[in-house]
Amino acid sequence: MLNGKRILLIISGGIAAYKALDLIRRLKEQGAGVRCVLSRGGAQFVTPLSVAALSEEAVYQDLFSLKDESEMGHIRLSREADLLVVAPASADLMAKMAAGLADDLASTVLLATDKPVLLAPAMNTRMWEHPATRRNLATLADDGVRTVGPGQGDLACGEVGAGRMAEPMEILAAVQACLGAENSGATLHGRRAIVTSGPTYEAIDPVRYIANRSSGKQGHAIAEAIARLGADTVLVAGPTNLADPVGVETVRVESARQMLAACEQALPADVAICAAAVADWRVDGTAQQKMKKDGSGQPPALALVENPDILASLAHLQDGRPDLVVGFAAETEQVVDYAQAKRARKRCDWIVANDVSDGTGVMGGDDNTVHLVTADAVDSWPTMSKQDVAATLARRIADHFDIS
Ligand code: C5P
Repeated sequence: MLNGKRILLIISGGIAAYKALDLIRRLKEQGAGVRCVLSRGGAQFVTPLSVAALSEEAVYQDLFSLKDESEMGHIRLSREADLLVVAPASADLMAKMAAGLADDLASTVLLATDKPVLLAPAMNTRMWEHPATRRNLATLADDGVRTVGPGQGDLACGEVGAGRMAEPMEILAAVQACLGAENSGATLHGRRAIVTSGPTYEAIDPVRYIANRSSGKQGHAIAEAIARLGADTVLVAGPTNLADPVGVETVRVESARQMLAACEQALPADVAICAAAVADWRVDGTAQQKMKKDGSGQPPALALVENPDILASLAHLQDGRPDLVVGFAAETEQVVDYAQAKRARKRCDWIVANDVSDGTGVMGGDDNTVHLVTADAVDSWPTMSKQDVAATLARRIADHFDIS
């Protein structure tokens, strides 16, 4: 979605600089060209070699380097971009920007640019809340500089509060918003969507559970893509390590039964997309205390009972069934045949089917190869990133509502 866009990423000093490396990958996955300026402080946290390897471009560090200036003068550097992103943006660099100082390459490029600037601030809570930083932020906002984050949470300095740099996916969404890259004409404005994502945990006792390898990457990307097209989106997420997607109301649950209850609570909706890898079974009668070995050498017998099928429950609703119910079918063989059978059995409208057999790397990976199975067609999409699968599916859903 950022095909052909040029980003100048300025990495200033702060422990969050490590997240800038992931941001480079995310931007490039979306087709953007990324050129980086690494400040002296930034280079204390990430190496020029890592930045150059990930961006596949030279890294610019020094204002007074004859070599850098002859290859790419700082004025050209600041103008040959569609957007300047500062991540992390330190309190110091923001103060320099607000004051119009230009005493190193990063601040000079920021003063010389005629392009939009997006900041992802990262600092200690006290620094973030300091009246000087508040003043600088207000000045920068007046100057038209945009910001994403910071979030609340545990900070690297051991304190807790505001100041944590936005996650790379949040910064990516902000970049897309700044560049209007989400604007394909397709819209889901006025529609409400429920998306399920991630695995479920089914408790055996208070410390043990049954789970699966789903990362939630595909489901979370779908929630974000749907929200980006304007849908009022509720993401019901099982346990994952992913940040809550930007612009999405996220309800975190653990078990299949909690996931179903949260989906029912989120109704009514125009579209439901069940991308979660819901556990088929749970333990019958979860132990209230931690189970212990009894010395007999005999393992405990775990009796399983079937979990509710969330997709089928939503698709079978007599009253208030979402207009479009989309399921997923992860298969290791006969992918399309099984998906067609599943579509009929669960009475959903579409199935996104994928091959998760060993060696495909889909489970937990960043790419996906899917077939969209509808009532009268099977569309096989080329292998693409999970973000692109999400964006393509979101556009198909928007088209469905446009036509129907
Ligand atoms: O039957 P199977 O688990 O292969 O079906 C996969 C589809 O059904 C996915 O869309 C998944 O989210 C959904 N599902 C569900 N609740 C279950 C099991 C699967 O919503 N208990």
